[in-house]
Amino acid sequence: MEVLVIGGGGREHAICYSLKKNKDISKIYCIPGNGGISDIAECYPEIKATDLEQILQFVKDHKDIAMTVVAPDDPLALGLVDLLTENGFRAFGPTKAAAQIEASKVFSKQLMKKYNIPTAEYEVFDDAKSAKEYLKNASYPIVIKADGLALGKGVYICPDKKSAIAAVNDIMLDQKFGKSGNQIVVEEFLVGYEVSVLAFCDGKTIIPMETSQDHKRALDNDQGLNTGGMGAFSPSQRFTEAEMKKAYDDIFLPTMNALNSEGITFKGIIYFGLMVSDKGVKVLEYNARFGDPETQPILMRLENDLYEIFNLIIDQKLSQVKLKWKDQQSLCVVIASGGYPESYEKGYEICFGDIDEDCVVFHAGTKKVDGKYYTNGGRVLGVTCMGNTLAEAREKAYNNVQKISFTNMHYRKDIGVK
Ligand code: AMP
Ligand code: GLY
Repeated sequence: MEVLVIGGGGREHAICYSLKKNKDISKIYCIPGNGGISDIAECYPEIKATDLEQILQFVKDHKDIAMTVVAPDDPLALGLVDLLTENGFRAFGPTKAAAQIEASKVFSKQLMKKYNIPTAEYEVFDDAKSAKEYLKNASYPIVIKADGLALGKGVYICPDKKSAIAAVNDIMLDQKFGKSGNQIVVEEFLVGYEVSVLAFCDGKTIIPMETSQDHKRALDNDQGLNTGGMGAFSPSQRFTEAEMKKAYDDIFLPTMNALNSEGITFKGIIYFGLMVSDKGVKVLEYNARFGDPETQPILMRLENDLYEIFNLIIDQKLSQVKLKWKDQQSLCVVIASGGYPESYEKGYEICFGDIDEDCVVFHAGTKKVDGKYYTNGGRVLGVTCMGNTLAEAREKAYNNVQKISFTNMHYRKDIGVK
């Protein structure tokens, strides 16, 4: 049997790597894929992950594809899973309606408010003038978010009125994120530490995976611009089992139930971005998919057959699953192109030394030409290693990072330090 994976980042490389362990899968296709994925899957770089019609045609043309796994946010938000399902094909991921928990921050905030799921206080605005009026008497710092998808860049933490007005101008008047900025959420600034919990969900059962921690800023000590994520580790060192249990009762289960009450069955991964403060655990954001790079360290620790879990979710039989985890720490250091998340150059050859056996270098923005790998994106690689302690996993990851080189490579030196 064959499987198609949609996406071409480190997350999709990790998904392909996990699916590959299932011996019944004879072939993996990946659209568009990348240089590293092409070593384990047949990649189609000429097809875009958002080209729904072409993907449907691809599935029609390849009769042995038993499942399409849709990993990135944009094809989910466009309804790729709906389209494939309507045409009689099995697809893993939430429907367009369910993916709104990520694709619209207004939708997700209203859902949380309606069903008493703890989150920051907020207001919604659909014109710049009334937003600015509100900001005159607001307390600072304050957080301003574009409603729609914005590659993780639509969130502004504003220390004062001046920066808040500038954020409104950016999002609503200059339309930096296009239609995603037609509405904004202005919300209370929360203080605490962040933890990510990804959960498998089939609409009847929700099972949280082990925790992870992302590093969103481009530079050491959380300086520089927000990125898609510069590194991650699993599990979090701080989030306790008692907190996890409470979050299940107050957040995870209520979120699935809230969606059901709205007539939406969520089948896929719900990513809970949480802030742990003295006032309790609150939801910063939902994503309707695996995180990147959190998926890389998480899947390296997962012992279950991922393909089987995906199948059970599609059939709403997730309650049969008991997750098993390697009792080790894993840590991923992202190597990016110098300049990312702003402008950067592509096309540099990547040189690899001998990578340790219990480490995997997941590819993101790479391509392979005549047996050689070249940079082809902002985030290029994710060096992911296991250890008995976080310090050991970190040391191993950084040792292996030293074995890799390309022009202008950039990585954070402090993943897992704080
Ligand atoms: P989001 O995409 O909504 O997760 O926001 C990106 C990042 O902005 C989060 O990971 C937090 O670091 C920060 N952030 C978002 N909302 C808030 C908030 N209400 N208070 C403090 N920080 C926030
Ligand atoms: N690393 C954050 C995300 O995938 O949204």
